[in-house]
Amino acid sequence: METVPSNEKLSEPQRSVLDGSSLGLSNSSLGLSNLDKLDKGELYQKAFTGFSKLNLRQRYLRLQELGVLKTEDLEFLRQGGITSTDLAENFIENVLGYFQLPLGVATHFVIDGEPYVIPMAVEETSIIAAASKTAKWVKEFGTISTQVMGAEIIGQIQFAKVRDLNNLRKVIKENEATWVSELNEKVASGLVRRGGGVTRMVLRDILRPDGLTMAVLHVYANPCDAMGANVINQVCEYLKSPLEIKSGEVVTMCILSNLVDSKLTKSRIEMTGLETELMERIEEASLFAHCDPYRAATNNKGILNGIDPILIATGNDWRAVEAGAHAYAAQDGQYRSLTKWSVKNQTLIGELTAPLIVGIVGGVTQLHPMARLSLRILGVDSANKLSRICAAVGLVQNLGALRALTTVGIIEGHMKLHIRNLTLGAGATDRESPIVQKRLEQILSLQKRISLQNAVEVLNELRLKNKLVAPEPNPTSVCT
Ligand code: MEV
Repeated sequence: METVPSNEKLSEPQRSVLDGSSLGLSNSSLGLSNLDKLDKGELYQKAFTGFSKLNLRQRYLRLQELGVLKTEDLEFLRQGGITSTDLAENFIENVLGYFQLPLGVATHFVIDGEPYVIPMAVEETSIIAAASKTAKWVKEFGTISTQVMGAEIIGQIQFAKVRDLNNLRKVIKENEATWVSELNEKVASGLVRRGGGVTRMVLRDILRPDGLTMAVLHVYANPCDAMGANVINQVCEYLKSPLEIKSGEVVTMCILSNLVDSKLTKSRIEMTGLETELMERIEEASLFAHCDPYRAATNNKGILNGIDPILIATGNDWRAVEAGAHAYAAQDGQYRSLTKWSVKNQTLIGELTAPLIVGIVGGVTQLHPMARLSLRILGVDSANKLSRICAAVGLVQNLGALRALTTVGIIEGHMKLHIRNLTLGAGATDRESPIVQKRLEQILSLQKRISLQNAVEVLNELRLKNKLVAPEPNPTSVCT
């Protein structure tokens, strides 16, 4: 971890960040005269200017000035987050320690007119850079708007070989209102107190390969600000016995569904003033991902590059969201893109629709200190807002990828940043790194490709030139 120098040793630019003058402030804390004159958007804009060029300490201070990080957060982050394994012991089994991912922030996001700092926990180089760069571009030429459609999650109760479907349907119809009340009183009272609860039931029938009929009861519930997995599973299991007694059928299993088409989150980007050719290329790239599942898979991976890191940072179940997103992408029988880009009246319009079921309470969202911190950085007060932010970042990430892929290609942006990893993987020391990186950048711009082998060769040449004794490089830790 980078060490934090004392105030006395700071250079002038560093000192200006610490004392707030980088944000136009004359002192160190918020609430100063100059700051008071700025609205939230202007303040965030100022804080994000040159953000990627700051060192770790300066980034902390910028976010502290912005009111996004508190003094105790800085202490916590500086000492590397959670250190005691006690917490891990409470979360999972057979604990050995933690697997730590880097936590960064994406900048320049303005969603539904509100500026955000987006915390992202992710190991892949260039995701945060691409998100921030594209968000800045969108801010300059357009807007991002979002909405959540529907409120209910789904629990499933399976009757593998239903004997009398009509009777089961009749029993459910007759008892639905009573069961919903009973479930809300006995199992989902916490949700009811927060304005949600079990809402309704729908029976589906499915033809089995052996010609028999399978019945599946969908139980719907509004989980409010929780993701709702535990409560909906409890609801379904509670219902098993009354269902069997009243219908004479056998329940095979009960579990939530991750294909939550009853609660979808949508984000939309509109941009004007772009080159026509660029917009058309993005539209063509979008059509590619709509028509071809091979391309759709990669396209959707790029979207999830934006979404998963927020889910991880906020302690949400990213496997559930991934499963739901991919299932939704295949809803019409072919796996397709979750996004659609089109050009209308010289405006580039992008839309993403997906079930992005998240929580800001429950699970580890309030138990994991890093998740709590990330939720505070985002400043979200509802699960829906978090879901809308995920949809917005996913769509921006997709736009960034399509813009790069249809113009300079993916290598330029990605590999420039990846050069750092290659240099490290080749075994360069801190002193050697800048020289190796510079040479690799030259090779990249000449050859348009770069590999770990290049990094090893450049390092060996450098060491030969400097007559240094080279320690054996260890290239195994980096993918090329
Ligand atoms: C790489 O992590 C993600 C991309 O492949 C996404 C895409 O192809 O759209 C660049």
